[in-house]
Amino acid sequence: MSANLTKRDFAKVAGAAAFGMTTGAPLAGRAASSAESRPKSVQGEGAAFPDGFSWGVATSAFQIEGAVKEDGRGASIWDTYAHTSGKVRNGDNADVANDHYHRYKDDVRLMQDIGVKTYRFSIAWPRIFPNGIGQPNPKGLDFYRRLVDALLEAGIEPFPTLYHWDLPQALQDKGGWQSRDTVKAFADYAGYMAGQLSDRVTRFFTINEFFSFVDIGHRGVEMMVDGKKVRIEHAPGLKLSNAKLNQVRHNAVLAQGLSVQAIRANAKAGTKCGPADNLSTAVPAIETPENIKAAEIATREMNAGYLTVMLEGKYTDAYLAAAGKGAPKFTEDELKIISSPVDFIGINLYRPSAYVVASERVPGFRSISFNKSHPRMLSLWHLLGPEVMYWAPRQVQALWKTKEIYITENGCAASDELSAQGIVDDSDRIMFLRNHLAHLHRATAEGVPIKGYFHWSLMDNFEWSDGFTNRFGLVYVDFKTQKRTPKLSAAYFREAIARNAVV
Ligand code: FCB
Repeated sequence: MSANLTKRDFAKVAGAAAFGMTTGAPLAGRAASSAESRPKSVQGEGAAFPDGFSWGVATSAFQIEGAVKEDGRGASIWDTYAHTSGKVRNGDNADVANDHYHRYKDDVRLMQDIGVKTYRFSIAWPRIFPNGIGQPNPKGLDFYRRLVDALLEAGIEPFPTLYHWDLPQALQDKGGWQSRDTVKAFADYAGYMAGQLSDRVTRFFTINEFFSFVDIGHRGVEMMVDGKKVRIEHAPGLKLSNAKLNQVRHNAVLAQGLSVQAIRANAKAGTKCGPADNLSTAVPAIETPENIKAAEIATREMNAGYLTVMLEGKYTDAYLAAAGKGAPKFTEDELKIISSPVDFIGINLYRPSAYVVASERVPGFRSISFNKSHPRMLSLWHLLGPEVMYWAPRQVQALWKTKEIYITENGCAASDELSAQGIVDDSDRIMFLRNHLAHLHRATAEGVPIKGYFHWSLMDNFEWSDGFTNRFGLVYVDFKTQKRTPKLSAAYFREAIARNAVV
């Protein structure tokens, strides 16, 4: 038996397996291996994660909850955007999505059957404050209390995220993230939520993926895919000038800092918080000391408007110089707020942003372009580069001496189909998972303080502008019947959790 799996843990896992699934196909036939049958391969026994490593899955409110008009929920910018013709593939919207609002108990059982120890979900701001500010909505709050209680009862630690892009539409109507009032409103909402839940929740993520909702939402990005230009856009779907975009970035990091202060002021002592950002990561193309250093410099610069300023309390000279007249307007006091100390850093990792080599020329690195034949997963943006799981946390620790790091998202979409026998054999997702975990393991083995890993996602869901086409789940969802069917990758993940290792 692996040193990291106690007899009690194992009994728990085996017990859950015997239980089988309550929804969809049983995982029991694919139960985690028994102590006797577990292979003593180098991979199975050698690649163990540290004791107490926390294994989890992640989702977000807008992508799964549905019930958009129930119990007093206000509209969010994503409701408006999804209902704007031409914005989401196939005209999909998230009015029902996974109907999680009504089926959360089943979904908690799904997690229990996979054996996850932690669950990262997000709270819909417009459920709590339908207009973004003003009187809280008790029914909205009650939903999250019930969800948290169900998780705790199932032995799963709740990790709520306070902002996963569903800004109340009423605030967008008054300028959204371009306005300082939204920054203040977010801090008030964050403080209120932490105050309400910190009797049963000890860790909060503040804001999810700054670049995604700021840059992609307020400017959009263009990328070359298979030789063609592809535009990626998120709500509210604006195309701001450089100066305005830089100010929105500044407002977003200011909201991060102010929300940390509000959480500390309102939550029970000992409550912990930090952001969950999609760190842009430069990977050294060839591992040499020069290239490793160059990649660190590149990562620090590529994140200058987000994690770098949050953790260093200043914008880099190169960032301000490149912005020129369009640089954000800010005060020294704001920089202090932005860099309010956090307890941990969450990083969402899907792919490297660049492969780099050292250069004699300023700024000390050269990004090499991705070859046209560079492999990717199903999503157009999703180039494959599992080394990101090693380099990103290592660089975060090297650059900012971070004491606790969580991998808050990692996963891939695949062309999953339910077979006539009712199974989904998602070979590519298993390949993706195994390789990413192997690189993550290298980082933990070298002492990088990674506390846990959240797979994106528990189940297929509304994948923003891609609608329901890109399935990211360990569990297959039939969106017509809402039937959940665990894929083979769920069995893979369950085995990894049970053995606390790469399997
Ligand atoms: C991340 C988002 C998450 C999901 C995954 C695939 O950027 O945070 O909501 O869409 O990508």
